[in-house]
Amino acid sequence: MIESVLITSGPTIEPIDPVRFLSNHSSGKTGYYIAEVAKKRGIQKIIYITGPSNYVPENVDVIKVKTALEMREQVLKYYKGIDLVIMAAAVSDYTSAKIYPEKIKKSKDSMTLNLIKNPDILYELGERKKKQILVGFAAETENIFENGQNKFKKKNLDLLVLNEISESNRAFDVNENQVYFLNGKGIKANKTMDKSEIAEILWDEIFSIRKK
Ligand code: CTP
Repeated sequence: MIESVLITSGPTIEPIDPVRFLSNHSSGKTGYYIAEVAKKRGIQKIIYITGPSNYVPENVDVIKVKTALEMREQVLKYYKGIDLVIMAAAVSDYTSAKIYPEKIKKSKDSMTLNLIKNPDILYELGERKKKQILVGFAAETENIFENGQNKFKKKNLDLLVLNEISESNRAFDVNENQVYFLNGKGIKANKTMDKSEIAEILWDEIFSIRKK
């Protein structure tokens, strides 16, 4: 029985100075629809942890965060008691080594920003996994199946939603997407569809792999 789900969504933003940040094109739409379908299918407890996004579901527990570190803190807080985690968030892989207290002025012709790696939240969840079902996402531009399989194994997942990012499939900040499901046994190719439909077939897939 899946009674509780933790969904992460949207981008994270990593501050550089008081007016600038590092981020990505994630709109938070996919996570939003996943939460909407969770409500429809009667999941009792829905915790929704989101980076800055205009798509925020109603009537679920919403926790708003900005940075990857803030997202990590909230995810780990709830992880233990949760049946299923869907990490749809596009977590920034890197953050600025320094947050400049004043606005950086354009004094020099070039500048270097020192970045440090953020913790991989999903990897940590995989390490600590007990009864939870873990669903991760991947965005790949080359060797997509090989990279996807590696990510599936490395992060100890039960299901990976794989996006191929190309000219014809931007995936980020659009309404439609084409995804593959990897479950450790095989690869399922899905048609291009609206993100609301992707949320429906993702839940079908999750229920089919659910642990007894
Ligand atoms: N993720 C995470 N913490 C991070 C980076 C990613 O939890 N610091 C999660 C995302 O929510 C997603 C999955 O890991 O579910 C895949 O993220 P992706 O950026 O595609 O892969 P990476 O493992 O970061 O590898 P790479 O960027 O090298 O492809």
